[in-house]
Amino acid sequence: MELLLVDLEPYLESSEFSEIDPKIMRVCSDVSTKLRETGALLVKDPRCSAEDNDRFLDMMERYFQKPDQFKRLQERPHLHYQVGVTPEGVEVPRSLVDEEIQEKLKAMPKELQPYLPVGPDPKWRYMWRIGPRPSHTCFQELNSEPVIPEGFPEWKETMDSWGSKMTSAIEAVAEMAAIGFGLERNAFTSIMKQGPHLLAPTGSDLQLHGKEGTVFAGYHYDLNFLTIHGRSRFPGLNIWLRNGQKVEVKVPVGCLLIQTGKELEWLTGGECLAGMHEVVVTSRTIDAVEQAKKQNRSLWRVSSTLFAHIASDAVLKPLGHFAESPLASNYPAMRAGEFVEQELSVINLKGKKEH
Ligand SMILES: [Fe+2]
Repeated sequence: MELLLVDLEPYLESSEFSEIDPKIMRVCSDVSTKLRETGALLVKDPRCSAEDNDRFLDMMERYFQKPDQFKRLQERPHLHYQVGVTPEGVEVPRSLVDEEIQEKLKAMPKELQPYLPVGPDPKWRYMWRIGPRPSHTCFQELNSEPVIPEGFPEWKETMDSWGSKMTSAIEAVAEMAAIGFGLERNAFTSIMKQGPHLLAPTGSDLQLHGKEGTVFAGYHYDLNFLTIHGRSRFPGLNIWLRNGQKVEVKVPVGCLLIQTGKELEWLTGGECLAGMHEVVVTSRTIDAVEQAKKQNRSLWRVSSTLFAHIASDAVLKPLGHFAESPLASNYPAMRAGEFVEQELSVINLKGKKEH
């Protein structure tokens, strides 16, 4: 199954007008429908070029290739890994600890079941906050100072530039989805302002962990609002649609992938569910590894993931007409920062002692 590919350019060109063109309206409606049905969407944004993506991936490959002891200098466990590096073996996939998910997995037909992880994820991750931070917040840890590794003079500019471009793409999709859902255009973007958006690329060493079936990110959903990825040089992402179908994602060159997270599920009272996904070594990953070896390229699989969040101090609750939906009571009002802390404690990224 092919995911819907939306060119954002016509919307961006029209967004200065208050009146929405019927053609644009139809695309907005497609965006909201696809987010609801598939939890994923491919987009093309003229502001996010393939060259920008490559520049970012080149720098991150150079970083992840550094020795472990160098990378551990950027580790901040006392800040719950919410900035700097998270070494492999720290993040715990939800499918390993959440009994409700395990039950659901067992009930799935065999061919649709995800790979079962046997322990924490064998992937590294770097967390870099994007955009302005609030001057007053009740959730300081989610809004900490950035960490810059030594020997990377281009780090800040590369991270900020790629991160803010991808955030702009998410904002456009969030506006289009709001219009499509029959909410105010800024219903989502107004509460995303000063959110703790995270550019959080992962690095997986395919030289070390390149066996078919290795699980880099066990079956899980994202706890944030919307997630966006640039194209990775190695395939491996599988997603599950609302109807249970499993889809191997192929992102065309120059395109970005958007996925729904739990905060969006909350805001839509369960109309739009957080998309389940996993990253595993597949036969296509192995083909890409063989290709990379021939071309003498890096064997680190870097994902350029950005997690867009609702502002920590904003209230998460079903918006507008979603407050009347039958499932709305499953989504009680709470501050987004509180919700995030609660979720992080499940996947092991909160409350870890420094080591
Ligand atoms: Fe994820």
